[in-house]
Amino acid sequence: STTPLKVAVTGAAGQIGYSLLFRLASGALTGGQPIELRLLEITPALKALEGVVMELDDCAFPGLAGVEIGDDAERIFDGVNLALLVGARPRGPGMERGDLLSANGAIFTAQGKALNKVAASDVRIGVTGNPANTNALIAMSNAPDIPQERFSALTRLDHNRAISQLAAKTGAPVTDITKMTIWGNHSATQYPDLFNAQVAGKNAAETVDDQDWLENTFIPTVAKRGAAIIEARGSSSAASAASATIDAARDWLYGSAEGDWVSMAVRSNGEYGVPEGLISSFPVTTSGGDWKIVEGLDVNDFSRAKIDASTAELAEERDAVTELGLI
Ligand code: NAI
Repeated sequence: STTPLKVAVTGAAGQIGYSLLFRLASGALTGGQPIELRLLEITPALKALEGVVMELDDCAFPGLAGVEIGDDAERIFDGVNLALLVGARPRGPGMERGDLLSANGAIFTAQGKALNKVAASDVRIGVTGNPANTNALIAMSNAPDIPQERFSALTRLDHNRAISQLAAKTGAPVTDITKMTIWGNHSATQYPDLFNAQVAGKNAAETVDDQDWLENTFIPTVAKRGAAIIEARGSSSAASAASATIDAARDWLYGSAEGDWVSMAVRSNGEYGVPEGLISSFPVTTSGGDWKIVEGLDVNDFSRAKIDASTAELAEERDAVTELGLI
């Protein structure tokens, strides 16, 4: 299509934004289709965002059809086909979990309402800002006219991390790793599943044949990778988060690879025993802007306990934001 895809990015002056915007503008999401960027920030960050837009201009990207910036969600989200909700309030010193949930609750209730009012009728909404699953639940709950399946939270970075760790362990190229699944919450309780994954078409858990590595190295390495990056880099993962945000949106809009699946946190209808209504990560295939949870996978006792623990955490977060009146 030669009609530009209108893509909103929130938190556009932040770390992830600084990587994400240039990849979006260079065509990593849309391929040949032009893109129009709608960038939302809080008022004090608009000046920095103007600087980022100057750099976008200076790249002279042929596929970048326009850039608009502002601090008014209803203006920025007007007519958008895709909203990437990256901006969120990080946990500050002395902030309790409840404080974090209410600070983000304020952001995602307002953005959900604005999207409900002005987004294009085909809008898809991907939430990267943490706590991503619960922020997506809040936005979804505040946008009653947008179909619930249009909301998802990002677990693609965890998915990509799991692929990378498994490739390194087995010596296989990343392209040989398929059918990876992240289950549950984008948090330390997430469950990367090797029992359904494959290495060059063979069962990954059997190929690795090392339950100790799977349990005590692989899972914690994937689940705590964010902290390890902060420790090494002195700031949180940004380029990889931007890359995963694009991977997730690209597959959602343009379709996942034949014979494979991806991980996306989407609203549960009770699949695999995940309580209905939670936004939890599942194996999904995507096509034409729709996702479908992969059915009939084997969940062994080990996996069951891990999935249950992560979804219990999601249910606690939901209860907390319900109590705060955010959903
Ligand atoms: P950052 O702090 O560098 O940037 C966040 C930006 O959001 C700031 O520029 C801030 O002004 C803006 N912002 C805050 N409230 C806003 C609002 N109401 N509307 C619009 N913009 C607003 O953070 P960074 O590193 O870019 O990360 C962004 C978020 O992504 C964080 O919540 C982080 O925890 C999360 N994240 C999620 C990952 C995932 O896999 N789901 C991976 C890595 C980060």
